[in-house]
Amino acid sequence: MEVIIQKDARSAAVLVAKLIVKELTAKPALVLGLATGRTMESVYGELIRLYEDEGLDFSLCRTFNLDEYVGLAPDDPHSYRHFMNVHLFDHINIDKRNTHVPNGLAGNLDRECADYERAIAECGGIDLQLLGIGTDGHIGFNEPLSALRSRTREKALTPATIIQNSKYFDSPDQMPKRGITMGVGTILESRSCILLATGADKASIVAKAVEGPITAMVSASALQLHPHCRIVVDEAAASRLQGTDYYRWIFQNEPEWAEFR
Ligand code: F6R
Repeated sequence: MEVIIQKDARSAAVLVAKLIVKELTAKPALVLGLATGRTMESVYGELIRLYEDEGLDFSLCRTFNLDEYVGLAPDDPHSYRHFMNVHLFDHINIDKRNTHVPNGLAGNLDRECADYERAIAECGGIDLQLLGIGTDGHIGFNEPLSALRSRTREKALTPATIIQNSKYFDSPDQMPKRGITMGVGTILESRSCILLATGADKASIVAKAVEGPITAMVSASALQLHPHCRIVVDEAAASRLQGTDYYRWIFQNEPEWAEFR
């Protein structure tokens, strides 16, 4: 695991976009795992800018989103499919047939989850998984006590997640209480992953996930087991970490980061 601290949320998002560009350029048919949420909006904004200004090519890229609300149709303005269309897919040259988001309206949710896992495997697995983190430590909708080997499944959301996300709904009652999510085990199988966290409200959970014990109580702590995981944070989200001198030293001195300094 490497922790990269950037001065503000904007620089952190731009760095994540550059890391995605590097992998997409090296492998145009990249299998990219995507997340939704406030933190991702500026990453997607930067990818759109790079498509418009620099011709970044998504034509062969395949994507799999982490999660979706149960009970929302793809065209529901609160669905994650809609979020992805509005914040990224509608603005770049991706083939929408190559974009995958779990179907929250599936009649048989267990089958939907198994099919989602199969589709990921048929694409050869996820090359690069993008992640945010919830204030309860969730990645995707893997709420506390999610099994560290869990696969894509239906999951009840915690009160913390319902509070965190209900601000996007007209009233908290409209917020779905269940989601479909890739499992922690599914995420750990990605070849590489990047977790982006910004803002002071994420500082405490970032410190637990990165420097605390691996525990199912903090799903993101399982990323300590991932062979190639980068945590990108701004100063505010890094403010509770203990090892910041070392993390800064790595970014300033390790050759792999030279092109990003
Ligand atoms: C959503 C997802 C979630 C979010 C997390 C942070 O697809 O994977 O784990 O990344 O809830 O959300 P924001 O960025 O809104 O704080």
